[in-house]
Amino acid sequence: MLFLDSSDPAEIQQLMRWGVASGITTNPLILSREAKGVDLRQRIVEVLRASRGPVSVELVTETEEEMLTEAQEYRAYDADPAGNRIVVKVPFSEIGLRVTHTLSGLSVPTNVTCMMSFHQAYLAALAGATYVSIFSGRIRDMGYDPAPVIAETRAQLDREGMSAKIIVGSVRHLHDVSEALSAGAHIVTVPPPIFRAMLKHPRTEETIREFNTAWAAAKKGASK
Ligand code: E4P
Repeated sequence: MLFLDSSDPAEIQQLMRWGVASGITTNPLILSREAKGVDLRQRIVEVLRASRGPVSVELVTETEEEMLTEAQEYRAYDADPAGNRIVVKVPFSEIGLRVTHTLSGLSVPTNVTCMMSFHQAYLAALAGATYVSIFSGRIRDMGYDPAPVIAETRAQLDREGMSAKIIVGSVRHLHDVSEALSAGAHIVTVPPPIFRAMLKHPRTEETIREFNTAWAAAKKGASK
């Protein structure tokens, strides 16, 4: 399954029309790049309108109390009586685990994020996270292979029959998508340029050109 890693409503609307992305992830870095000076609530409401499926919005406060208040503020961004699509993205930490556990008791969906190891992802799943986000590109930046982290996490979730779903983020190359899915990710969250790169193969374009040229020539011959 694929999510779209973006907070740009125009981009989201375009890519959603392909029918392949079933949710959105945002983070403060993406928002600061794409939505300088824009009110967060207004931006997320636009993202909700442009998309379907869950929309992850990340907490930026640091104390447990502030994070729980912020979580409820984010949830209020979605006023749709048919179902609240806001997922509270919780940065991984000891406080983050407590926040996740409390929100899970209130049936608020969470996406525990910025995780680089099996142990972190396992703790987040045990605390009641709906999604556990493993950052493949950033793991590789440190010189480690992200595939075993994803595979061990998936195996443990399955062994214990846990409901948490693995999202693999920090996708930098096409290969990260296929690698994460083969390793056991339930979902890969893909930035728009990588989505566009997934379309391309020179042999496909060449083959379509060959077919269409042959057909055009045949039609020309038939009309003589
Ligand atoms: C995932 O939820 C994050 O938004 C994102 O994929 C982080 O990617 P980065 O490492 O490119 O910042």
